[in-house]
Amino acid sequence: MILLWEIDTQVDPSLLSLMQTAADAALHAEGVTRSCAVSVRLCEDEAIHEINREFRGVDRATDVLSFPMVNYPKGITAGRADKLLRRALDDELNACMLGDLIISVPHILAQAAEYGHSPQREAAYLLVHGICHLMGYDHMVDDEKRSMRVMEEKILASIGMSREEQTGLISDEALLALAVSARERSYSPYSGYAVGAALLCADGRVFQGCNIENASFGLTNCAERTAMFKAISEGADEFVAIAIAAEKSAPWPCGACRQVLNEFAPDIRVLVTWDGNVDEAPLSELLPHGFGPKSLA
Ligand code: THU
Repeated sequence: MILLWEIDTQVDPSLLSLMQTAADAALHAEGVTRSCAVSVRLCEDEAIHEINREFRGVDRATDVLSFPMVNYPKGITAGRADKLLRRALDDELNACMLGDLIISVPHILAQAAEYGHSPQREAAYLLVHGICHLMGYDHMVDDEKRSMRVMEEKILASIGMSREEQTGLISDEALLALAVSARERSYSPYSGYAVGAALLCADGRVFQGCNIENASFGLTNCAERTAMFKAISEGADEFVAIAIAAEKSAPWPCGACRQVLNEFAPDIRVLVTWDGNVDEAPLSELLPHGFGPKSLA
């Protein structure tokens, strides 16, 4: 999912990467295979209050507002509305524009404190709630409300953020799906070999990465290192598994990536997926007798 950010206030960057992961998980849970885009504005209460008054005639601030671009028939959601999604294709983005979300950052923080969970979980929840609206879900009548809640829970659970089990780690299947969606963002005009990765941390966070090539070929960064560098720079320090996705051949990590993974997670599980296949090996098998921090101790 392409998230078009408009950020009008201070926000912890770790919330942004989590919201990207949640958005990708939402499309996967709904079974949407097309590339989609959503604009997300993060703002102060004054700004959301203004929009609420102007567009909904409600004179107060709120946590999240959604403005869908696709007009779903009653009872139909994005996963069953491929024709409608195709009509919402934005040529420039090469993705279907689902609509706009406005989220109040003060509300994220206040509601997290009120419900006794992390701002991360609240940000993920509000984004998922908004995206469900943009995918055709609603909560006006009981039946609809129930299926919206079920979908929200399914999405949050798939990224280890369900209400019951916030520290639960996501399943291999969900991790592989997040690697597949990270691959969409690959910048690989020279090799044409697009790779996506999803790195699962012991605290439940997932960092996604893609390969980023360069006209000066040697500067290319692989998907695995992109994910690992993102994670380290956001303060993650313990890793459980990494999923790597390519299209036609098994994307076992290259030598450089094995070495970088070994620096931070010598025992990490490595899962690869390509063309409907899945395989797995521990890093210790992929880099036997590796040289690492312990060698210098
Ligand atoms: N690539 C990765 O992203 N991960 C790997 O482990 C193997 C290779 C990328 C680098 C380059 O952009 C393209 O795949 C072809 O080598």
